[in-house]
Amino acid sequence: MEAAVAVDGEDGDSRKGSWYVVGERVVLVPYLREHVPRYHKWMQDPALLEATASEPLSLDQEFDVHRSWTLDPLKHTFIVLDKELIEGEFVVGNPHTEAMVGDVNIYMNDPDDSQFAEIEIMIAEHKSRGKGLGQEAILTMMAFAVEKYGIHTFRAKISKSNTASLKLFRKLGFKDASYSAVFKEVTLEAPAAALPLISPLTIGSW
Ligand SMILES: CC(C)(COP(=O)(O)OP(=O)(O)OC[C@H]1O[C@@H](n2cnc3c(N)ncnc32)[C@H](O)[C@@H]1OP(=O)(O)O)[C@@H](O)C(=O)NCCC(=O)NCCS
Repeated sequence: MEAAVAVDGEDGDSRKGSWYVVGERVVLVPYLREHVPRYHKWMQDPALLEATASEPLSLDQEFDVHRSWTLDPLKHTFIVLDKELIEGEFVVGNPHTEAMVGDVNIYMNDPDDSQFAEIEIMIAEHKSRGKGLGQEAILTMMAFAVEKYGIHTFRAKISKSNTASLKLFRKLGFKDASYSAVFKEVTLEAPAAALPLISPLTIGSW
């Protein structure tokens, strides 16, 4: 199967494993090369660039970023599939680009604590917003991060003007930890033990 072969190559970092996670309304799948063109199209939207503090990239640059994320042992990225948009059944090894609606990732970037993770979520497809997918994707990702990486605390950095995202994280139990007047950005944190994480998780290997 083509996708499975790709996972064994640069798409699948064996140290991280090629996991997928099936939720009630979402499926989290590895970020594969097949996902990059649509991801790149999303990231042409100025509102999404601002909400995610990202810069516009060329398609080639997006492929480079994909490769670096895939190889980075400190980063774990999933593409969020909207189950309602999957054509037919979910098939392990199929990137299901028709159903991709966003991404969720963690970055274990604290040099003093490898079990501290920054989390980011994006539901890029407007038609898939407001259906609970963002919330489920975050809770699923955090449960996965606790189980596979032993993460004990999560952090999110969110622009002061991003009321939807701030409301989402605060609703889940994140507390404001600090504010950067320079970046106009709120840092929120939550211990994993205080979060309503999804359990048990349906995890499979690609
Ligand atoms: C923020 C975002 C992830 C929300 O995803 P979503 O799937 O639409 O959100 P959900 O349907 O799961 O909503 C869950 C909660 O989030 C909050 N929320 C979501 N959209 C909201 C909106 N437009 N206004 C206010 N609150 C909102 C609410 O608290 C909601 O719970 P409720 O329905 O019980 O009130 C999505 O809008 C997005 O990707 N925006 C652009 C990228 C971004 O801002 N990423 C965050 C950077 S960390």
